[in-house]
Amino acid sequence: MNAGEKRRTPWIVGVSGASGTPYAAAVLRGLIEAGESVDLVVSRAARLTLLDETGISFRDAHWQDDLGRWLAAGADGRPDTFGPGAYAEAAGDVRYWAAGDLAAGPSSGSYPARGMLIVPASTACVAGVALGLSKDLLQRAASVTLKERRPLVVSVRETPLNGQTLRHLVTLDDAGANVVPASPAFYAGATHIQDLVDFVAGRVLDAAGVPHTLYRRWKGGLGGARAAES
Ligand SMILES: Cc1cc2nc3c(=O)[nH]c(=O)nc-3n(C[C@H](O)[C@H](O)[C@H](O)COP(=O)(O)O)c2cc1C
Repeated sequence: MNAGEKRRTPWIVGVSGASGTPYAAAVLRGLIEAGESVDLVVSRAARLTLLDETGISFRDAHWQDDLGRWLAAGADGRPDTFGPGAYAEAAGDVRYWAAGDLAAGPSSGSYPARGMLIVPASTACVAGVALGLSKDLLQRAASVTLKERRPLVVSVRETPLNGQTLRHLVTLDDAGANVVPASPAFYAGATHIQDLVDFVAGRVLDAAGVPHTLYRRWKGGLGGARAAES
C-alpha cells in the first residue's frame, strides 16, 4: 500500500439461514448509504430463506445481479421498492465471499475489518459462534471478529427461544458481542412492513455506530410518532 492510500476497512455482513432476509437487505442498504465498505457472506441455509422470502436464487457467479435484485426489493415482496439505485450502488464497494471459502479475507484477523454484523442470525449460527465452531466462513469470520476484539452484532431471529440458545446468547454477550434481537417495536409510528424491518435494521446499525435515518427515534413524549404522522 502506498503512503496516503486509504485502506479499505469493511463491515463484514453475515447472512445466516434464519427468516428475515429483508432485515439483511435493509442493513446492507444502510451501510451502502452511509458510505461504508461491505464484505458479504451468505450461508448455504440463507440461500433457502432468500429464495423462500424473495424468490431470488443467490448465485456465487452472479452475486452482483442477485444482490441488486435483493436490495431493490421491499419487505412486502415488491421487486422494485428501492429501484435500480440500490442495484447500482451495490456494485460499488461491496465484496462477496462464498460461505465455503475458508481462505477468504475475513477468515483471518490480519484482514482489515471494522467489525461484523450477523443479520439475521439463526440459532444454529448463534450456537456455532458461541462455541467457536467455525463451520463455514460466516462462523469463522465471527470468531475472528471476537478474537480481534472488534464489534460483533448478532441479530438473532427465533421464537420461542430455548434455554440452550439463551445460554449461547449470554456466552456471546460475555464475549463482547452485541445481541440485537430481530424484534421490531411499534413506538416509531410504523405503518408498513418495511417500517418494522427498518426499525430492526436501524437498531443493528445503532449497535455498530453507523449513522442512518431508518426509523423515527423516541423523543420523550408518548404518542410522538403518531403526532408526527398527522
Ligand atoms: C425457510 C426457512 C426458515 C428458517 N427460519 C429460521 C429462523 O427464523 N430461525 C432459526 O434459527 N432457524 C431458521 N431456519 C433453520 C436454519 O436455516 C437452519 O438451522 C440452518 O442450519 C442454519 O444454518 P446457518 O446458520 O449456517 O445459516 C429456517 C430454515 C428455513 C428453510
